[in-house]
Amino acid sequence: MKQTILVTGASSGFGLLIANKLHQSGYHVIGTSRNPEKSQSSLPFKILTLDITDDNSIKSFGKQLFTEIKQLDVLINNAGFYLSGLGEETTIEQGKKQLETNFWGTVKLTNELLPYFRKQRFGKIITVGSIMGLISLPGGAYYAASKHALEGYFRALRFELNEFNIKVSMVEPVGFKTNIVTNSIVAENKISDYDAYRTKLEDYTKDLFTKSEEPTAVVETLLKLVENENPNFNHPVGKGSTLFPAIQYFSFKTFENAITKNINKFKK
Ligand SMILES: NC(=O)c1ccc[n+]([C@@H]2O[C@H](COP(=O)([O-])OP(=O)(O)OC[C@H]3O[C@@H](n4cnc5c(N)ncnc54)[C@H](OP(=O)(O)O)[C@@H]3O)[C@@H](O)[C@H]2O)c1
Repeated sequence: MKQTILVTGASSGFGLLIANKLHQSGYHVIGTSRNPEKSQSSLPFKILTLDITDDNSIKSFGKQLFTEIKQLDVLINNAGFYLSGLGEETTIEQGKKQLETNFWGTVKLTNELLPYFRKQRFGKIITVGSIMGLISLPGGAYYAASKHALEGYFRALRFELNEFNIKVSMVEPVGFKTNIVTNSIVAENKISDYDAYRTKLEDYTKDLFTKSEEPTAVVETLLKLVENENPNFNHPVGKGSTLFPAIQYFSFKTFENAITKNINKFKK
């Protein structure tokens, strides 16, 4: 029987690519979007309405999902967005929105589906974290907080769900070309003291994203994870994705100096 795979945030970026790839590979794919009517006609798989920040949406999605399918083999928690800006310049409301989506939204959806997974006594939960869940860079404090929170949460769940033959893994991409920058929100509480630092940081970040890779490697990693019966927990993907966390772990000072030096190259 075909495995059924749920991909959240399947209207764009990694989610769209992996959902298409899985569909082409013969899996039964269900995707989600806050506005499925915008993308359904161009997609070869079914896309259901889901806003992971809305409790009612999660509940009605859960009910609808199991009228569409009999069993769920894999959940790919991919939906999320990027809040960029300096910590102090980010309003608490913006920060909460970041955590509400990337962390709480992912946890709430997972909780909605766990009773079905436990009843089945099998399943797989793959969550798209980020390199920013393993390291932190300036200009992404809340994003890093949301992705670190996912790492800590799902690492614990991995032990707990082993009891039920439910495998839990993370994927940690570096920067890849998707719509994440277009869909990002920017800290809105500008403080003039930060003007010079913010300007060079923006140039540094822009440079990083301009040089970012096409998302093929993320799609390959996700596909391998779906196919692997007993995957490991962490799966960093992209240039520097294993090196940076290792340097940070063994010598934070070396890591800090290297990042600061790179940002200072953009000094005006
Ligand atoms: N691109 C990168 O460089 C990069 C690196 C590391 C990690 N990531 C992570 O990869 C994941 C996918 O991002 P992407 O790069 O593919 O960005 P993207 O192209 O902007 O796609 C984001 C997807 O998330 C969905 N989404 C956003 N907010 C949602 C909400 N409240 N409820 C439900 N769905 C929501 C969007 O769907 P709708 O708008 O249709 O609802 C969209 O399909 C994110 O978790 C992101 O943090 C990206």
